Amino acid sequence: MTEIAKPAPRVAVVGTGAIGGAVARRLLAGGCEVAVWNRTASRSARLVDEGALPAASIGDAVAAGDLVLLTLTDHAAVRQCLAALDTDLSGRTVVAMCTGTPDDARSAARRVAALGAHYLDAGVQASPETIGAGAATILYSGHRPAFEEHAATLRLLGGPRFVGEAPEAAAVWDLALFGVWYDAQLGLLRALETVREAGVDVAGFARTAGVQLGHVVAGVPGTVSELLEADYPAGPARLTEHLAVVRRLIGLRSGLRLGDGGLPEAAARIEELIADGRGDEGLTATIG
Ligand SMILES: NC(=O)c1ccc[n+]([C@@H]2O[C@H](COP(=O)([O-])OP(=O)(O)OC[C@H]3O[C@@H](n4cnc5c(N)ncnc54)[C@H](OP(=O)(O)O)[C@@H]3O)[C@@H](O)[C@H]2O)c1
Repeated sequence: MTEIAKPAPRVAVVGTGAIGGAVARRLLAGGCEVAVWNRTASRSARLVDEGALPAASIGDAVAAGDLVLLTLTDHAAVRQCLAALDTDLSGRTVVAMCTGTPDDARSAARRVAALGAHYLDAGVQASPETIGAGAATILYSGHRPAFEEHAATLRLLGGPRFVGEAPEAAAVWDLALFGVWYDAQLGLLRALETVREAGVDVAGFARTAGVQLGHVVAGVPGTVSELLEADYPAGPARLTEHLAVVRRLIGLRSGLRLGDGGLPEAAARIEELIADGRGDEGLTATIG
């Protein structure tokens, strides 16, 4: 018996900038039928040469895809593009693949539902060069059956990770992960500025600072289990000892261009816990 070939997935890529261009290229290479629309049409001409189908309007692009990827600058652009659509989009899945806030995700989900389609929010933890390569992770949240239906296509772009059915879950993950990076990187920059201003050997210090950052990474599982079990053992230091160090650091950081990194707020929280008789607990107690 001859096997009937499965039809190629039909994907619309709306916005062919850096991410959208890489996404469209990867989907084409993966055997998808890709319709592209870009506000500035000339920016999608190369993709058309490479096999993408040019759409004359955003509505035409969306009509040509079962999976619609909005790879746009931000949610203001997503709102504009969704407002331009007025046909029934039943059966389609619309993915906003751009950095946004939880409110942005909820409002896009409402608009997409009003058009009859399923919504997925996506947080792109990747650069254009890593789309489709092992290093890319893309976080999705929203309509789980729609994610599962399109998972094989989404896998072409990088490790797809479904993080929750609330539409805003991917945005929360995405921003919180940026927060981890900024806090660590800005912490490193503050430390480098501190030692440079003190005339200390910056290169030698930086090597040891790398080891210190490694302690944070190694401590992640322990910190999480303390939090989940609501048990805050002192570990390497008690809150009373942390407070003394944090106060000294606030003094050392005065005058830094990047400020003190929120240490006074942390000190105030530690003081509150000590006043409650919890000075023997560990640092995780500050968010317990
Ligand atoms: N680039 C990265 O490394 C990276 C990494 C992670 C996440 N992200 C996120 O991915 C998203 C896309 O980034 P990108 O780097 O691809 O941006 P980009 O290269 O600047 O492309 C933005 C796209 O949005 C379109 N656009 C902007 N405003 C529009 C509007 N009002 N109506 C219709 N189309 C509009 C642009 O069209 P025109 O060509 O007409 O201007 C262009 O196609 C952003 O949310 C970004 O934060 C990017």
